[in-house]
Amino acid sequence: MLGEKARNMQISVIGSGYVGLVAATCLAELGHNVVCVDSDSAKIAALNAGDTLIHEDCLQELLSRHRGTRLSFSTSIEEAAREALVIFIAVGTPSAEDGSVDLSCVEAVARSLAGSMSGYKLIVEKSTVPVYTSEWIQNALVAKGRSPGEFDVVSNPEFLREGTAVTDFLYPDRIVVGASSAKASAIMREIYAPLIDGCYSQLASAVPRPERARLLPMYIETSPRSAELIKHASNAFLALKISFINAVANFCEAVGANIEEVCRGIGSDGRIGPDFLRAGIGYGGSCFPKDVAAFRAVAREFGFEFPLLDEITRINEEQRARFIRKVRGALRTIKGKRLAVLGLAFKDGTDDVRESPAILVIEKLLEEKCQITAFDPAAMDRARQVLGNKINYGADPYAAVDGADALLILTEWKEFGNLDLVRIKRLLRSPIVIDGRNVFSQAEMAEAGLNYQSVGRPTLEASPALLKKGHIAR
Ligand code: UDX
Repeated sequence: MLGEKARNMQISVIGSGYVGLVAATCLAELGHNVVCVDSDSAKIAALNAGDTLIHEDCLQELLSRHRGTRLSFSTSIEEAAREALVIFIAVGTPSAEDGSVDLSCVEAVARSLAGSMSGYKLIVEKSTVPVYTSEWIQNALVAKGRSPGEFDVVSNPEFLREGTAVTDFLYPDRIVVGASSAKASAIMREIYAPLIDGCYSQLASAVPRPERARLLPMYIETSPRSAELIKHASNAFLALKISFINAVANFCEAVGANIEEVCRGIGSDGRIGPDFLRAGIGYGGSCFPKDVAAFRAVAREFGFEFPLLDEITRINEEQRARFIRKVRGALRTIKGKRLAVLGLAFKDGTDDVRESPAILVIEKLLEEKCQITAFDPAAMDRARQVLGNKINYGADPYAAVDGADALLILTEWKEFGNLDLVRIKRLLRSPIVIDGRNVFSQAEMAEAGLNYQSVGRPTLEASPALLKKGHIAR
């Protein structure tokens, strides 16, 4: 049993994408009765039939635990809205052409809710939306004839990372709630009570707490506008950290310093912290690229210039172009070469290829008329949907490498670090490895006789230019 204070709520979650499905499942895990709604009947049928649709740790287990009891799936937004006290909106908010957020799905949900609400409803914005969206939803409902006292709208942004979304939900660093009425605040506290007081983690059946998770989350109550801004600013700041470290890594390459040593040095400052300081070929995924652009667009809409956000994006794009220049430099020409690629997902631990730097690099390389054989531990099917037969797919890493002129590492899968490098060397036509994610140590590469380049780390031989300048002792 969950704590005395916890009340089982009737909740609807509109949208069964990454955020909606994880939120619905975890809210059921906290003891609530949840209906997850999606207009896509094929998706709902698949979820009802036991499919999880996405590759996410612990999700299958929790879905099996709650499906058919506390968790059900439906295509009827009207019915779900009628029966629920709380309605989470977790529909897609894609980018429009100019980088701003396309809120048409949120608007459609607001319209359906206005037509089907009966009694008080608390509407929770879970999708990532620009500042002022909660007011905008409120106005949309009032325009459709609902009176302001009939409902509240709160902003409750998610900070879920793909791959660890379930434990991020159940053991968050912080829960942010932007509410403008005491009633709405009280309901939100009740929903999250098992996390706020820690009683969820005491259950024998609880998903185990990850090692680095906080014992209790910070519960942060703000205005709706601040909560909306917290979400965009958090993702922009994390993207900034990555672009910053990538720029420093490039400088390391210019002066023969080692980005890993530099990161150890700066990340140990408690004010900076060691996370999100991994240099590579830049960030991707469904959030960072879109959210930085959206933050920029909404700032501009309010007459606020924020050029730092442009620079974050510029460095991120340049990082991929720089990697391609490294490949060209190592092979002299890319045209006609056979390249092995390890990694297609936008990061490790997921099958998601949306805005994947790996896919963007592959598309650029293909423009230079090379042949590519790729392998990814989880994202092959999704990559096939994007790249089709423009590339070949290896059954395993060694099949991808067999006969290639160079091996490129494009996703930071830990599994790649355990590859048999002697075998890789034997299979490659030339012993060239260009690692865009710093998965390998330089020493092990040198030992295996591989000619290895990575990001922000000097090649084992000191550059003659630096020797001439006397920066490095012979
Ligand atoms: C991110 C946020 O972390 C999460 O809080 C938010 O809710 C959604 O967006 P996610 O997109 O799942 O989560 O991935 P994340 O782990 O943040 O990585 C994003 C990208 O940055 C990946 O392409 C990853 O490879 C890259 N990255 C991350 C780096 O290049 N270096 C790092 O140090 C960290």
